[in-house]
Amino acid sequence: MSFTIAIDGPAASGKGTIARALAARFGFAHLDTGLLYRAVGALGGDPILAARELTPDDLRRDDLRSAAAGQAASRVAAIPEVRSALVDFQRRFARTEPGAVLDGRDIGTVICPEAEVKLYVTASDEIRARRRALELGADEGVILTELRERDARDAARDVAPMRQADDAVLIDTSTLTIDEAVELAINLARRAGA
Ligand code: DC
Repeated sequence: MSFTIAIDGPAASGKGTIARALAARFGFAHLDTGLLYRAVGALGGDPILAARELTPDDLRRDDLRSAAAGQAASRVAAIPEVRSALVDFQRRFARTEPGAVLDGRDIGTVICPEAEVKLYVTASDEIRARRRALELGADEGVILTELRERDARDAARDVAPMRQADDAVLIDTSTLTIDEAVELAINLARRAGA
């Protein structure tokens, strides 16, 4: 039986950093599910076809981290057929032995509702914008507007909107260092049996 850790939350909340640290700590596989939507958006053309025919190579493009790729991802992610084309791959990944960490927007609610651990990682808009601006070397004000627009779209869509699962533990990283947030997540996972 594999152990699944589901991590959701808005852009630049720290969920990716926590997911990678948990995977390294427990020897689990890690899937950044945002990359799937970023790749579909970046491929251009018909997003439904792109999602159905997505290959591992598509996830290795180096233009997937940009703010533009994030916006394109958020747009294609609202298309129900795009989401359904990516469900099986994510659920199969979640069953990787001995365990898997998946981070995204709908992991605890839709992809892995039975996950052994569910975290919802968030931080204030301003702090998330500052982190992302530093990471991308971009203007903080522009990034803040972009993040808010993207979060609003991700939370308002009809299918699998970004939402904290009822049984997810909330981690607000606004006032935590990376080490503190990671330690908190590791302790929660350990207590759940990881
Ligand atoms: O985590 P990220 O910023 O790389 O995600 C990019 C976009 O992809 C995000 O704005 C919404 C979409 N997404 C989604 O709808 N569901 C997921 N599980 C992961 C990402």
